[in-house]
Amino acid sequence: MKTLLAVVHAPSPNTQRLSDALEAGARHHDIEGIDCVCQSPLETVPDDILNADGIIIGTTENLGYMAGLTKDLFDRCYYDVLEQKQGLPCALYVRAGLDGTGTQRGIESIVTGLRWRWVQPPLILRGQWDHTFCGQVEELGTYMAAGLENGLF
Ligand SMILES: Cc1cc2nc3c(=O)[nH]c(=O)nc-3n(C[C@H](O)[C@H](O)[C@H](O)COP(=O)(O)O)c2cc1C
Repeated sequence: MKTLLAVVHAPSPNTQRLSDALEAGARHHDIEGIDCVCQSPLETVPDDILNADGIIIGTTENLGYMAGLTKDLFDRCYYDVLEQKQGLPCALYVRAGLDGTGTQRGIESIVTGLRWRWVQPPLILRGQWDHTFCGQVEELGTYMAAGLENGLF
Protein backbone atom coordinates (compact mmCIF):
# COMPACT_ATOMS: atom_id res chain seq x y z
CA MET A 1 0.00 0.00 0.00
CA LYS A 2 1.44 3.38 -1.00
CA THR A 3 0.67 6.56 0.90
CA LEU A 4 -0.42 9.83 -0.65
CA LEU A 5 -0.03 12.71 1.82
CA ALA A 6 -2.14 15.82 1.28
CA VAL A 7 -1.13 18.75 3.46
CA VAL A 8 -3.91 21.24 3.14
CA HIS A 9 -4.47 24.62 4.75
CA ALA A 10 -8.22 25.23 4.72
CA PRO A 11 -9.15 28.30 6.76
CA SER A 12 -12.49 29.09 5.06
CA PRO A 13 -15.60 27.24 3.86
CA ASN A 14 -14.41 27.44 0.25
CA THR A 15 -10.96 26.07 1.03
CA GLN A 16 -12.59 23.31 3.10
CA ARG A 17 -14.59 22.43 -0.02
CA LEU A 18 -11.33 22.16 -1.92
CA SER A 19 -9.86 19.91 0.75
CA ASP A 20 -12.94 17.65 0.64
CA ALA A 21 -12.75 17.53 -3.17
CA LEU A 22 -9.09 16.57 -3.07
CA GLU A 23 -9.78 13.73 -0.64
CA ALA A 24 -12.74 12.52 -2.70
CA GLY A 25 -10.58 12.51 -5.83
CA ALA A 26 -7.71 10.66 -4.18
CA ARG A 27 -10.17 8.10 -2.77
CA HIS A 28 -11.78 7.42 -6.15
CA HIS A 29 -13.53 4.03 -6.05
CA ASP A 30 -11.34 2.64 -8.83
CA ILE A 31 -8.18 3.25 -6.81
CA GLU A 32 -7.49 0.57 -4.25
CA GLY A 33 -3.79 0.60 -3.54
CA ILE A 34 -3.41 4.09 -2.09
CA ASP A 35 -3.82 5.22 1.48
CA CYS A 36 -4.68 8.93 1.34
CA VAL A 37 -3.78 10.94 4.43
CA CYS A 38 -5.22 14.46 4.34
CA GLN A 39 -4.26 16.77 7.18
CA SER A 40 -3.39 20.33 8.08
CA PRO A 41 0.16 21.67 7.95
CA LEU A 42 0.05 22.25 11.71
CA GLU A 43 -0.45 18.57 12.49
CA THR A 44 2.12 17.39 9.94
CA VAL A 45 5.50 16.24 11.22
CA PRO A 46 8.60 15.10 9.32
CA ASP A 47 7.69 11.41 9.77
CA ASP A 48 4.50 11.98 7.78
CA ILE A 49 6.57 13.14 4.83
CA LEU A 50 9.15 10.39 5.32
CA ASN A 51 6.31 7.84 5.14
CA ALA A 52 4.75 9.37 2.01
CA ASP A 53 5.16 8.12 -1.56
CA GLY A 54 3.68 11.31 -2.97
CA ILE A 55 2.63 14.70 -1.60
CA ILE A 56 0.08 17.34 -2.50
CA ILE A 57 0.35 20.77 -0.90
CA GLY A 58 -2.80 22.90 -0.77
CA THR A 59 -2.49 26.43 0.51
CA THR A 60 -4.05 29.85 0.39
CA GLU A 61 -2.14 32.93 -0.65
CA ASN A 62 -1.98 35.57 2.06
CA LEU A 63 -0.13 38.86 1.78
CA GLY A 64 1.61 37.81 -1.39
CA TYR A 65 2.99 34.52 -0.10
CA MET A 66 1.97 31.03 1.02
CA ALA A 67 -0.04 30.83 4.26
CA GLY A 68 2.08 31.10 7.40
CA LEU A 69 1.19 27.57 8.47
CA THR A 70 2.32 26.20 5.10
CA LYS A 71 5.62 28.05 5.45
CA ASP A 72 5.93 26.71 9.01
CA LEU A 73 5.55 23.16 7.66
CA PHE A 74 8.59 23.64 5.44
CA ASP A 75 10.50 25.45 8.22
CA ARG A 76 9.99 22.51 10.59
CA CYS A 77 10.42 19.61 8.18
CA TYR A 78 12.94 20.75 5.56
CA TYR A 79 16.19 19.36 6.96
CA ASP A 80 14.62 16.22 8.44
CA VAL A 81 13.37 15.06 5.02
CA LEU A 82 15.98 16.59 2.71
CA GLU A 83 18.24 13.56 2.30
CA GLN A 84 15.64 10.82 2.14
CA LYS A 85 12.84 12.30 0.06
CA GLN A 86 14.63 13.58 -3.02
CA GLY A 87 12.50 12.74 -6.06
CA LEU A 88 9.25 12.68 -4.04
CA PRO A 89 6.39 13.16 -6.53
CA CYS A 90 4.63 16.41 -5.64
CA ALA A 91 1.80 18.67 -6.73
CA LEU A 92 0.41 21.98 -5.52
CA TYR A 93 -2.80 23.92 -5.54
CA VAL A 94 -3.11 27.52 -4.41
CA ARG A 95 -6.37 29.29 -3.59
CA ALA A 96 -5.68 32.95 -4.26
CA GLY A 97 -8.29 35.67 -4.17
CA LEU A 98 -6.22 37.92 -6.41
CA ASP A 99 -2.91 36.60 -7.61
CA GLY A 100 -1.07 33.45 -6.46
CA THR A 101 2.27 34.03 -8.17
CA GLY A 102 4.18 34.87 -4.98
CA THR A 103 3.02 31.62 -3.42
CA GLN A 104 3.81 29.58 -6.52
CA ARG A 105 7.29 31.10 -6.76
CA GLY A 106 7.99 30.55 -3.06
CA ILE A 107 6.94 26.90 -3.09
CA GLU A 108 8.74 26.19 -6.37
CA SER A 109 11.91 27.54 -4.83
CA ILE A 110 11.55 25.32 -1.73
CA VAL A 111 10.69 22.27 -3.85
CA THR A 112 13.79 22.90 -5.94
CA GLY A 113 15.85 22.89 -2.73
CA LEU A 114 14.20 19.68 -1.54
CA ARG A 115 14.60 18.11 -5.00
CA TRP A 116 11.02 16.92 -5.02
CA ARG A 117 9.63 16.11 -8.46
CA TRP A 118 6.66 17.96 -9.96
CA VAL A 119 4.27 15.52 -11.57
CA GLN A 120 1.69 18.19 -12.42
CA PRO A 121 2.09 21.92 -13.03
CA PRO A 122 0.97 24.00 -10.00
CA LEU A 123 -2.77 24.66 -10.04
CA ILE A 124 -3.62 28.29 -9.22
CA LEU A 125 -7.29 28.86 -8.33
CA ARG A 126 -7.41 32.60 -8.78
CA GLY A 127 -10.12 35.23 -8.45
CA GLN A 128 -13.68 35.05 -7.25
CA TRP A 129 -14.82 31.66 -6.01
CA ASP A 130 -15.79 29.41 -8.88
CA HIS A 131 -17.43 26.04 -8.32
CA THR A 132 -15.28 24.49 -11.06
CA PHE A 133 -12.32 24.85 -8.66
CA CYS A 134 -13.55 21.80 -6.75
CA GLY A 135 -13.59 19.67 -9.89
CA GLN A 136 -10.05 20.74 -10.77
CA VAL A 137 -8.78 19.83 -7.32
CA GLU A 138 -10.69 16.54 -7.33
CA GLU A 139 -9.02 15.66 -10.65
CA LEU A 140 -5.65 16.50 -9.18
CA GLY A 141 -6.28 14.10 -6.29
CA THR A 142 -7.34 11.32 -8.64
CA TYR A 143 -4.40 11.94 -10.96
CA MET A 144 -1.89 11.74 -8.12
CA ALA A 145 -3.43 8.65 -6.52
CA ALA A 146 -3.84 6.83 -9.85
CA GLY A 147 -0.32 7.75 -10.92
CA LEU A 148 1.13 6.40 -7.69
CA GLU A 149 -0.96 3.26 -7.86
CA ASN A 150 0.11 2.54 -11.43
CA GLY A 151 3.76 3.30 -10.81
CA LEU A 152 3.74 6.20 -13.28
CA PHE A 153 5.72 8.47 -10.96
C1 LIG B 1 -5.21 38.62 5.31
C2 LIG B 1 -5.46 38.16 3.92
C3 LIG B 1 -4.52 38.39 2.95
C4 LIG B 1 -4.73 37.98 1.64
N1 LIG B 1 -3.76 38.21 0.72
C5 LIG B 1 -3.92 37.75 -0.54
C6 LIG B 1 -2.88 37.93 -1.51
O1 LIG B 1 -1.83 38.47 -1.24
N2 LIG B 1 -3.08 37.43 -2.75
C7 LIG B 1 -4.22 36.79 -3.09
O2 LIG B 1 -4.33 36.35 -4.23
N3 LIG B 1 -5.23 36.61 -2.20
C8 LIG B 1 -5.11 37.07 -0.93
N4 LIG B 1 -6.10 36.86 0.00
C9 LIG B 1 -7.31 36.14 -0.38
C10 LIG B 1 -7.17 34.67 0.04
O3 LIG B 1 -6.23 34.00 -0.76
C11 LIG B 1 -8.53 33.97 -0.04
O4 LIG B 1 -9.45 34.68 0.70
C12 LIG B 1 -8.38 32.57 0.55
O5 LIG B 1 -7.65 31.79 -0.35
C13 LIG B 1 -9.67 31.89 0.88
O6 LIG B 1 -10.46 31.78 -0.27
P1 LIG B 1 -12.04 32.07 -0.18
O7 LIG B 1 -12.11 33.55 0.09
O8 LIG B 1 -12.59 31.67 -1.50
O9 LIG B 1 -12.55 31.28 0.98
C14 LIG B 1 -5.91 37.28 1.31
C15 LIG B 1 -6.84 37.02 2.32
C16 LIG B 1 -6.63 37.45 3.59
C17 LIG B 1 -7.67 37.15 4.66
